[in-house]
Amino acid sequence: MTNKYTDLINFDRQNVWHPYTSMSSPLPSYLVKSAEGVRLTLSDDNQVIDGMSSWWSVIHGYNHPDLNKALIDQSKDFSHVMFGGLTHEPAINLSKKLIAMTPETLQRVFISDSGSVAVEVAIKMAIQYWASKKQTTKHKLLTVRNGYHGDTFAAMAVCDPVNGMHQIFDQVLVKNHFADAPQVKFGQDWHANAQGENEVSALEALFDKHQHELAAFIIEPIVQGTGGIRIYHPEYLKACHRLCKKYNVLFIADEIATGFGRTGKMFACQWADISPDIMCVGKALTGGYLSLAATLCTTDVANTISEGEAGCFMHGPTFMGNALACAVANASLDLLATNEWQEKVLGIESYLKANLSPLIQHQRVADVRILGAIGAIETKQAVVMAKIQKRFVELGVWIRPFGKLIYIMPPFITTNKQLKKLITAIAKILDEDDCFEGI
Ligand SMILES: Cc1ncc(COP(=O)(O)O)c(C=O)c1O
Repeated sequence: MTNKYTDLINFDRQNVWHPYTSMSSPLPSYLVKSAEGVRLTLSDDNQVIDGMSSWWSVIHGYNHPDLNKALIDQSKDFSHVMFGGLTHEPAINLSKKLIAMTPETLQRVFISDSGSVAVEVAIKMAIQYWASKKQTTKHKLLTVRNGYHGDTFAAMAVCDPVNGMHQIFDQVLVKNHFADAPQVKFGQDWHANAQGENEVSALEALFDKHQHELAAFIIEPIVQGTGGIRIYHPEYLKACHRLCKKYNVLFIADEIATGFGRTGKMFACQWADISPDIMCVGKALTGGYLSLAATLCTTDVANTISEGEAGCFMHGPTFMGNALACAVANASLDLLATNEWQEKVLGIESYLKANLSPLIQHQRVADVRILGAIGAIETKQAVVMAKIQKRFVELGVWIRPFGKLIYIMPPFITTNKQLKKLITAIAKILDEDDCFEGI
């Protein structure tokens, strides 16, 4: 490694925060020099195959010519203008596309700068909706355990109360209501025993008890991502939607991780054929190029807010509708519109089913879960991050496990040969005792 990189990495280690690691004694961060397709080139010139799509976002791969071109072309016109009082073609086109591709009740678009902000916006929309109807007691959220919706305050307040950040921020987080996480898995027979219906009854009891104070119900459709890659039954999602209607509660679908094809449908809500009142998208929206998110809502939600006392929705970030981000999002959605993504995602799913599923036989594995281009292995012991991360890099792959989860959600362009390399690395690591905590 050259001195240049050693100095950079040392500076980074001392001065730059990285997510969920200590600042005083951080886990190592690998410096990326360049990225192309599904490969990241590190500062020592070693290449790793990316199994993470940079946290669900880089669906078309790195350094994509169409996405590069969209950015360069837009930057020649302008990169950003304020969205208050001004508008532009990239944002208008993006809104048109989002309205056309999302469930049909969603007709109004609020473009913001990150997933957590999109969730804050969704929650504020729901609360302002009821305030506009003079129903000011309806300002709480109902959700399910094991959820994850972001790191800002309103979002944290609907994350899992045990695994999330509730303990540290308990004094300041709004107290919302939590149902048990859905247990009937995707692919299981919903009617085989009464478990599914019992869960729905327990959920209904919460709707019934708290309806007077509930502004909205929020859930990650079909896949609870950061809360454990838990893939649940579409009937549960259908029931959530039905209960929202029955108890006059808005339904917020957080599609930030699941949206844009990852689960095998364009949006995971489509597995249950439901249309939410409010929906958040982000992550893969720009093909992973820039931070951008959107909160879509129904005409009823938008009109009610607009006709309320305030006369407008109370949110307006500086980088709302950023033109560069919208331009690259348009290019990414154009790539998705070719529909080739579907074949690729189903191809990845078949490969994972054939080659990742057998790892269930390994004595260290508790469960294997697969849907679309998502494959997760739950281990019986938690991983030792410092060890396992280093070993994956040595094996030529970029996989970042957490807790008892080793999971991949590779770019849609990943070939079977590259998937094989990812799975072979996982299989090898499972045999390495020092990558796991003791039982
Ligand atoms: C379902 C879900 N919602 C919200 C977020 C927050 O998005 P961001 O990290 O862009 O703020 C995430 C991020 O992982 C997510 O998975």
